[in-house]
Formats: sequence, structure tokens, C-alpha cells
Amino acid sequence: MSNSEEKRVQNTSLAPDKVMHKLVSLAKRRGFIFPSSEIYGGLSSCFDYGPLGSEMKKNIKDLWWNAMTRRQANIVGIDASIMMNPTVWEASGHVASFNDPMIDDRTTKRRYRADHLIENHIEKLRRDGKTEQADRVQAAYEAVSAAPDANRALYELIIGEAIKAPDTGSGDWTEVRQFNLMFQCSMGAVADTSGVVYLRPETAQGIFVNFHNVRESSRMKVPFGIAQIGKAFRNEIVKGNFIFRMVEFEQMEMQYFVKPGTQLEAFEAWRERRFAWYVSDLGISPEKLHWYKHDKLAHYADLAYDIKFEFPFGIEEIEGIHSRTDFDLSQHQQYSGKNMEYIDQVTGERYLPYVVETSAGCDRLFLALLSDAYNEDVVDGEQRVMLRLSPKVAPVKAAVLPLVKKGEMGEKAEQLRSELSASFLVQYDDAASIGKRYRRQDEIGTPFCFTVDHQTLEDQTVTVRYRDTATQERIAMAGAKLFLAEKLM
Ligand code: GAP
Repeated sequence: MSNSEEKRVQNTSLAPDKVMHKLVSLAKRRGFIFPSSEIYGGLSSCFDYGPLGSEMKKNIKDLWWNAMTRRQANIVGIDASIMMNPTVWEASGHVASFNDPMIDDRTTKRRYRADHLIENHIEKLRRDGKTEQADRVQAAYEAVSAAPDANRALYELIIGEAIKAPDTGSGDWTEVRQFNLMFQCSMGAVADTSGVVYLRPETAQGIFVNFHNVRESSRMKVPFGIAQIGKAFRNEIVKGNFIFRMVEFEQMEMQYFVKPGTQLEAFEAWRERRFAWYVSDLGISPEKLHWYKHDKLAHYADLAYDIKFEFPFGIEEIEGIHSRTDFDLSQHQQYSGKNMEYIDQVTGERYLPYVVETSAGCDRLFLALLSDAYNEDVVDGEQRVMLRLSPKVAPVKAAVLPLVKKGEMGEKAEQLRSELSASFLVQYDDAASIGKRYRRQDEIGTPFCFTVDHQTLEDQTVTVRYRDTATQERIAMAGAKLFLAEKLM
């Protein structure tokens, strides 16, 4: 920014706890996200994407899909069904192991995850400088999984440390119980156990069970990947933080099948590529992204890293990168009785491929992008709210604004809107002062505004106004389409 631009635009600093409140309100007011079934009082942790939200979500998914399938010579996509044969979930280990330890507070009737209570307690001890106590509790916590009764061990740790609920300060605890996160429903006319089906808790299993179908039909050779975007469902004990933790959400997953022994190399390569994608394709500030290595692994993984993002409420996961070994294919081989091995056509070797998984949450990413983009500043002495979204992510790519609504100026603007809308989502706005119209577009993250004015009628040029700097320049109206195409490359 030049000095004169700095004078025009002055940033206002914003307390992080205020940002969430403002985001939720903007999301509803401008049609990004609405509470689900709101006229009936809503439903906990369920949300609907509105007109702008569904456009922005589609942009995120398209960017992921292009990066992970179309630009990759050896990755193809599928779209598997949400409901699957229930044996899939026995084989995958989800029926037995996809549990969270749950504990209730009898007085407040609130429900918590026992492991989260202990982890928060350890963090607090460390923050307070009580390192010795923190190390002792940490060691006891790590020994829990080996205890003969893990639930009891968790309960005793909570009682022994006199851990209280972080939100209420109460600690009238019940015993710890395991709670399976899969939603069950019944298929068919009779609601007995024979018709039990599950809503998938991850999209990955649709890929594993289709391993041979995809490999054969697309003539794929190891190493190759299968990618998928789709809904997943989890009956989360602790919900909340807007769309951060929902019971129905969308995942963007890719399973990369490799020869055993080469998985670590593939894992590192995907770690690097996935981190770079957030910065290069989505324009997220790299200093807000962090790596986290898991000590406690999911039942299917032998190595796992998260990419975390600095949300206004803390640093939290947006994507997991997991080394899943041959766990899933070998389980499906055992439970289905079908051979899941790969035969190398050149060497004749037979093996069960190992899998490196990249698993991103679309809704969490949406929230990360919104909070990264939210900005309040003062332009020419006037307060404005702006979403500094990357043009590729922004729902509306440009606005067409006639200075005067009627007559030739209005007609020219309509002509420009019609030309641009063949390729881009553009908005036409002729209501209120030009300043107000710019503010409306800033608030939804529209990166460019084309204004049709008196000069347009004389020399066929329009002004293009840049959202971030509020500066303007003149370009030929006939060049507006190419201008946008170049900015979106
Ligand atoms: N197939 C592996 C898997 O599902 P995960 O770490 O449990 O791994 C992957 O989930 C991603 O899915 C997370 O990084 C997160 O972005 C998203 N996700 C998981 N649970 C979610 C929830 N309840 N609400 C919104 N997104 C969720």
C-alpha cells in the first residue's frame, strides 16, 4: 500500500472474542449461514447455508476438487452413498471403537467429554507453572488406555484431581461411559435390529470398499489416489462454536494407496502439499496455520498430524493427515471374504497397499476463511466491515453499479452484467448512494466493483474499484471479462 492509500484505509483492531459474535451475525444478515429450521427454534449444531454461503462453499469444494483430482494425473474422484452395508462399520472398527468417554454433571445436567476435562486440566496446570503436577497427571492420563477399566481410571483421575466443569465450576460427576458417535437408523418397514444402518461418520469407507472397482474401471496403478467430497454424521457429545463442530458436516477426503514401505515418503509429501494448498489456493495467512502431531491415535492410524488454524476461540484442527497402514483394506478383506490385494503387473508382486489419508472438513474451513477474512476499517473517515476473501473463494466475483439507474447508463450496466454473468457470479445493484453500494459489496467480500458513469457513455470505459484498498482505476468496458478471468487464475 502506498502512503496515500494507507490514509484512505485505516485498520481497526478487534478483540478475538468479539469476532465470533460479529461473524455469526453477518453470516445470517447477508445470507451465508442460517440456523437450521429456525422458525421451530432450530436444532442444536445444525445449520443451513444461504445463497451466498452455498456459493462460497461450492467455491471451496471446487478448489479442493481441482487441486486433488483434476490437477493430479493419478487421483480420481467418486461419490459414494451415505448409507452402506452395516458390516462396513464393524470391519472399519467404528462399531467397537468410534467412542468418546462421556461424563455428566448431576447438578447442572450438562454433558462433557471426560478426556477433554483432563486435557484442559493439564493445560491449566502448565499455564499456572505447576509443571510437576501436570507431568504426574499427564503420565496417569497416558496410562489410562492400558488400564483394565479405562472408564473407571478416567473417573478416578477426574475425582482425584477435583476437576470441575470449565463453564460452570460444578463437579457433581457421574461415572464415565463410552458413547458411540455413529447415528443409527432403521431401513425397511420393520424397526428391529436386522434393519439397522448407520449414517457414515467418515467418507473414507466408501473409498476403501470401492478400491477394486475404481482401480479396475480407471486402470489405476499404485501409487494412486481416490478423492471424495460428501456428508458425514457424528453424534458429538460437545457441540458448538457455530459451524466448527456439527453433527452433520461435509468432508473432503483423499485416500492415497502406496506400496508398503513407501508410506512415510508419501505421508511427508502430502503433508507439504496440503499445507501449501491453504496458502496458495485459498489465500489463508500462513502464520495462522499450525502443525500438531498426535500422541493419541485413532484406532486405524499409526501416524497422524493435524493442520490447525487460529480461530477466534483458539487453535483448532481443520484437516487431519493420517497414515492408515493397510488397516482398512485388511479389515474389509477379512470381513467380506474378498481379496483386496493389489497385483503389480510388472513385477508380479501381490500386497495390500498402505494408505495415506488427507481429510479436511469443509465447514470448518469455511469458518476459518470467514474469520481470517473478517476486517473492520475506516475508509475516507467512514467505518466499514469487509471480508478480505481471496477472489477465488469470494461468493460474488464482481458488482456492476450504474451511477445513475435510469437511461443509457442503466442499459450499459445491464449489458455489462449480462456479459459477465455468462462466466462469473456478479451482482447488479442500482439502489442507494454509490458509497453505500460499495459497503454492501465489501461486507460480503466482493473483490471488484465496476461502476458505469458519465464517462462510460463517452469512451466505453468503466471504473474498477478494488475492495481491499478502496482505490479505483479505469479500464475498457470490453476488457472487464478478461480482467476478472486474470484475477481468478
Ligand atoms: N477419515 C478420517 C477422519 O474422519 P477426522 O480427523 O475425524 O478424520 C477429519 O475428521 C476432518 O473432518 C476434521 O479435520 C474436521 O475438519 C472435520 N470434522 C470432524 N468432525 C467434525 C464435526 N463434528 N463438525 C465439523 N467438522 C468435523
